[in-house]
Amino acid sequence: MPGRVIAEATSRLRAAGVGSARVDAELLAAFVLDVPRGRLPLVDTFPPLLKDRYEALIARRAQRVPLQHLTGRAHFAGFDLAVGPGVFVPRPETELLAAWGLSKVQSGIGVDLCSGSGAIALALRTRISTVYAVEQSPEALDWLQLNTRDTDITVVHADVTDPSTLAGLDGTVDLVLTNPPYVPTTAVLEPEVADHDPHLALFGGEDGLSVIRPLVVRAAALLRKGGYFGMEHDDSHGESVPALLRDSGDWADITDHLDLAGRPRFVTAVRV
Ligand SMILES: C[S@@+](CC[C@H](N)C(=O)[O-])C[C@H]1O[C@@H](n2cnc3c(N)ncnc32)[C@H](O)[C@@H]1O
Repeated sequence: MPGRVIAEATSRLRAAGVGSARVDAELLAAFVLDVPRGRLPLVDTFPPLLKDRYEALIARRAQRVPLQHLTGRAHFAGFDLAVGPGVFVPRPETELLAAWGLSKVQSGIGVDLCSGSGAIALALRTRISTVYAVEQSPEALDWLQLNTRDTDITVVHADVTDPSTLAGLDGTVDLVLTNPPYVPTTAVLEPEVADHDPHLALFGGEDGLSVIRPLVVRAAALLRKGGYFGMEHDDSHGESVPALLRDSGDWADITDHLDLAGRPRFVTAVRV
């Protein structure tokens, strides 16, 4: 078993400040050896060529290149998505938002605003027959098209803050989900995020709300009365984002939800 090689790689990643050093060392070993992580103890040796490849990947991970950019894959709600430079790597906490949406709506029209890799749109399409995915960045759009190419999801290259975006659907949509850029520009981020996630995907102006404010207006216009809305937000927005929805008068049942770490993470509401 390549235990010693993985142990050395773990030490190297830990010294570089990688929080999940052991897990990442094992996942990269499993990737290079082309085995599931759980089968690593059954592998006898690390063939020299593969060991060189592994060490090259560990060196890049030690430079804080995201694990998902090294493997080219990210897992989300049972999907194996293609990711890399130019697109936001989907996060596990966003699965909670998608699961909430699917617990409320299983038919009609679903819209994923700020779709990135298409993670939320693909999750929606497991239950909802008509799904739209809206994305502004041309680089992210390439990944979105790749990840949705075998589906009938409608990909739309547009700005979600523009009143004309999907205006033909106004008043007809059953569910809008969104994970918009919401990080305040002053936030201090890990190198994996600051240096590799696209800035258009991360930052929402000084208070983190510059995209959220007009996006909420567009979401309200798209939804039919009784339609559902769910939006991820920064953990500093647990009060300001629900207040923004309350102040508009467009929403009922405004509820904020915690993420897996117990931090305020997404707001949900029903269109009145
Ligand atoms: C935080 S990422 C979320 C991606 C994906 N939904 C997910 O959860 O992994 C935000 C995405 O919104 C896109 N975006 C930013 N501003 C936008 C805008 N005004 N209109 C449409 N898309 C936008 C970014 O390019 C990025 O792909």
